[in-house]
Amino acid sequence: MVDAVDFWDARAESYSKSSVGNEEAYNEKLRTTQKYFDKESLVFEFGCGTGTTAIHHAPFVQRIVATDISSNMIEIAKNKALAENITNIEFQRSTLEDFEATDASFNVVMAHNILHLLEDPEQAIKIAYRLLKPGGVFVTSTVCLGDSFSHWRVLLIIGKLFRKVPYVNVLKRETLNRYLSDAGFAVDLEWNRKKQTPFIILKKPAAR
Ligand SMILES: C[S@@+](CC[C@H](N)C(=O)[O-])C[C@H]1O[C@@H](n2cnc3c(N)ncnc32)[C@H](O)[C@@H]1O
Repeated sequence: MVDAVDFWDARAESYSKSSVGNEEAYNEKLRTTQKYFDKESLVFEFGCGTGTTAIHHAPFVQRIVATDISSNMIEIAKNKALAENITNIEFQRSTLEDFEATDASFNVVMAHNILHLLEDPEQAIKIAYRLLKPGGVFVTSTVCLGDSFSHWRVLLIIGKLFRKVPYVNVLKRETLNRYLSDAGFAVDLEWNRKKQTPFIILKKPAAR
């Protein structure tokens, strides 16, 4: 299997130039997420890639800490933020496990197109829960390859055969839902739209 850091480092440049896919859906996800922000919001994103989503959200929040395992992705993200005069995002090269932060220190945690790339998405969801303040929200778009036999699954099988892809989790939506509810999250909003990556916003219960 290809090392994830090498894989994503090698793709950072082309990833930064690729389109978001369904732009209308992407913009709707941005607007939907922004309803959960206020000017005091402290946001954490893991697997941030080249920072596109964090940069869109930056004007609506106090501060974003955005991390990724690929230093090339982080480098591009930093340059993009600089070019747009965005000064309230701290980009860090880090895995989720190594990320150092005080428990219950963020209002929002975001994980877009990343949980299916982790060997232990359940653990990642538990970390997201731990990092959130009571009443905070977890926002995720997560590819569930286990739910259909799409062309992505075929490509994945071929890629695995030729050792060209890093670890990919063939996650089912019901498994994802179980991980989320076992962690303690309650669904606040979800899209289950045909041919679209599930988009879910979950709440950590407020302290009593
Ligand atoms: C498909 S891209 C998604 C990027 C961005 N979140 C987006 O939606 O455009 C996956 C990103 O996750 C990062 N990544 C892959 N494995 C990771 C891991 N184990 N820990 C943290 N980041 C990881 C990659 O470097 C890459 O930037």
